[in-house]
Amino acid sequence: MKTQWKLPDTTQAKKRLGEVEVLYDQYELTPQQKELGMNKTYFIKTYGCQANERDSETLAGILQTMSYTPSETIDEADVILLNTCSIRENANNKVFGEIGNLKHVKTQNPDVIIGVCGCMTQEEDLVKRILQKHHQVDLIFGTHNIHRLPDLLHQAHFSKERTVEVFSKEGDIIENLPTKRFNTIKAWVNIMYGCDKFCTYCIVPFTRGKERSRLIEDIIEEVNELKSNGYKEVTLLGQNVNAYGKDLRLDDGFASLLEEVAKTGIERIRFTTSHPWNFTSKMIQTISDYDNIMPYIHLPLQSGSNDVLRRMGRRYTIEEYMDVFNKIKATIPRCSISTDIIVGFPNETDEQFQQTLDVFNECKYDNAYTFIFSPRSGTPAAVLEDHIDMETKRRRLQELNELVKKYSLENNLKYVDEIVEVLVEGPSKKDETVFTGYTPQQKLVNFTAHDAKEGCLVKVHITSAKTWYLIGQLVD
Ligand code: SAH
Ligand code: SF4
Ligand code: F3S
Repeated sequence: MKTQWKLPDTTQAKKRLGEVEVLYDQYELTPQQKELGMNKTYFIKTYGCQANERDSETLAGILQTMSYTPSETIDEADVILLNTCSIRENANNKVFGEIGNLKHVKTQNPDVIIGVCGCMTQEEDLVKRILQKHHQVDLIFGTHNIHRLPDLLHQAHFSKERTVEVFSKEGDIIENLPTKRFNTIKAWVNIMYGCDKFCTYCIVPFTRGKERSRLIEDIIEEVNELKSNGYKEVTLLGQNVNAYGKDLRLDDGFASLLEEVAKTGIERIRFTTSHPWNFTSKMIQTISDYDNIMPYIHLPLQSGSNDVLRRMGRRYTIEEYMDVFNKIKATIPRCSISTDIIVGFPNETDEQFQQTLDVFNECKYDNAYTFIFSPRSGTPAAVLEDHIDMETKRRRLQELNELVKKYSLENNLKYVDEIVEVLVEGPSKKDETVFTGYTPQQKLVNFTAHDAKEGCLVKVHITSAKTWYLIGQLVD
């Protein structure tokens, strides 16, 4: 490995040391960097969660300040960035597939710069694999040094060597980075970075560093700016939003933040993800108190077995989970709740899987994201002995997915004949008289109308329901 390369280091990434500073004027371009992208284009391909989508908006913002413009297709771009995810093995496989595809692009256009960033590049072994096997990759950087893109791109452009810079220790909070938002109605707003929960199966605390919160005033300023630019909805982002403000020593910080964001008067507020642990009554009450905080909560369960939850390091029991769940349902009128579930955690027994189905039958979730456990190198669960074969895991996933569909449809059917409020996203691709949008409960609605303006809140009469969406007609 070259000495000037800065590679990730897993031991370092586990540590939770040092104070975090908030920096406001870190971003400055040299005149040369400002012109580097003149007559050149970029293409960013994003994998993974909303945190990555938001990061891609920053990457695009930075590239545009360097005079790059977006390319319609990946093949024609001068700079290609893959913003990667490492949450499960198949996320990695998709990226390696794409890196493979890009080999022909490099052959056709040797001047193209192919960059890989995001969560995968925070992992030592994956970076080594890219460096050894995929010589078409010119640039590698991580989640903690996005702001360094102008320097790194400059280096990649002018040096004959590949450029590699990944910081394992999270950096400070860097405000005021340029942003090119991909949506004009709905916006992602980071409220915190990182995760300190260290669930035993999860790679995120290694790839995103320690929990650190943005200051309330910076978040509110961003929401106010979005509102004055015509945005109708913000989604507050964090791996674990109810830990917001702990590092700032705020008491019940997320409830206070929600309240402040609600007071800005922005039309719709959503947030993700809330951990069932430490979901306080004050948060539930705040969500219920403000009409512009949407009645939809993503509350990951992961498993219905106390033994599995303990081995996952999830910090709650089923009884505690149900307590939060029931409080939400009792306090927030018609709140919809979705969840995440992992099947086939090492040595999960049939009985333990049955307990997951039992909880699902009790909670009757509006929606659920279900996964087969995927061992992530460096996490404690990856080295657990496992006697459950893949076929059993697949069968469990299928059985669970039948329940997901059943309750999704059942919950959707409750809206038939009702009038719901929809934030219009635009006409559907297939039919110009059919429009789409979401209800406060995050139900997708396809509705007919002569015209419905993008970004408007309209009333729709629901006429029928499918498993994944509602069908209706605009009420004039
Ligand atoms: N911070 C969020 C989760 C982010 S990851 C939270 O705690 O709720 C999204 C989901 O991916 C997790 O909820 C979990 O269900 C799933 N997941 C994470 N690591 C996984 C792994 N190693 N194998 C399978 N699924 C995993
Ligand atoms: Fe991963 Fe757990 Fe953190 Fe969620 S709370 S990101 S599952 S470690
Ligand atoms: Fe994936 Fe990283 Fe998000 S691992 S799920 S992109 S935090």
